[in-house]
Amino acid sequence: MGSLMASFFPGHILAIESSCDETSAAVILENKVLSNIISSQVAMHEQWGGIVPEAAARAHIEAILPVIQTALSKAHVVLSAIQALAVTSRPGLVGALSVGVTTAKTLAQTLGVPLLGVDHLEGHLLAFLAENLDAPLPMLSLLVSGGHSELVLIRGLGDYQLVGQTRDDAAGETFDKGARLLGLGYPGGRKVSELAETGNPKRYALPRGLAKERYDLSFSGLKTAMLRLVESESTNLNVPDACASLQAAICDSLLSKLKNAVEDLSPRSIGLCGGVAANAELRNQVIALGQRYGLPVLIPSSEFCTDNAAMIGLAASYRLNRGERSDLTLEVQPNSNLFSLKP
Ligand code: KG4
Ligand code: ZN
Repeated sequence: MGSLMASFFPGHILAIESSCDETSAAVILENKVLSNIISSQVAMHEQWGGIVPEAAARAHIEAILPVIQTALSKAHVVLSAIQALAVTSRPGLVGALSVGVTTAKTLAQTLGVPLLGVDHLEGHLLAFLAENLDAPLPMLSLLVSGGHSELVLIRGLGDYQLVGQTRDDAAGETFDKGARLLGLGYPGGRKVSELAETGNPKRYALPRGLAKERYDLSFSGLKTAMLRLVESESTNLNVPDACASLQAAICDSLLSKLKNAVEDLSPRSIGLCGGVAANAELRNQVIALGQRYGLPVLIPSSEFCTDNAAMIGLAASYRLNRGERSDLTLEVQPNSNLFSLKP
């Protein structure tokens, strides 16, 4: 297997992402990101300590047209020049996804241009395309977000093998739950990582789940251990040390499975993607692993790690160029169907 050798849709694509709590629109030309506008609902969900699906859908309805308008003007492209619509159609919150899909269908129909529904996870896996087209394949990619923690072997564009996954909670969810227990609010990943910078990662002993499994992960024991730690230490708890210990436990778990898969599957490059890939400690550890094995490491810049429409447009661009199309019966789905089964 060689390197990517991808070719992309030659016209302007308007891409829309609304699967969770960010409303995003981007304009893509081939693999170039002309604009990538993200409107976050974080401030709204913070008051409830997590995402309320009904409120998320309503917030998408309010934000989507202004976000599209801003994406077009930032790209210096008028709506009538758009030659295809791309939209996240799975996986995610059904009400939230529906806002993006209905908008994309309406625009595609009105403009008389092709429409393509995209799997959000493929968007994360291919976000590196915004900045790099020379990735040697196969690439072993660690996809870590609020709802997913998966090890995926990218054999080619559209050819993804699931190598390992979490059996319970996702890495991002674990960061968020830990943050909530520590009184840091939602979403907690970034807050935990900031406080962890001054903390001692060895201060509190926390479990590394499923240590005997080569690829699969588990974070539910870590979540329970965090709860016990907060209860038992109560006011004596050193919050930066707890953040650093939590971050170390998550990174250790992820890195040990990534290392096993690198040794067993001999990929030609390593990828890291999804919202948790914005974590500086995790990025540094994955880069160090790549150096140890002499493999290039591809990590998108933070803007393309957390949810964004540019990654959806990039995944759509190669598929549209292959002639793939959705029609107006495109439906939203809560689950992904991207992967071939495990070997
Ligand atoms: O990919 P994403 O934006 O949304 C989903 O598809 O889920 O990922 C969101 C997750 C949240 O759990 C958030 O806490 C986490 O990514 N996250 C981080 C950081 N920035 C975002 N986790 C750890 N460190 C960060 N710096
Ligand atoms: Zn995501």
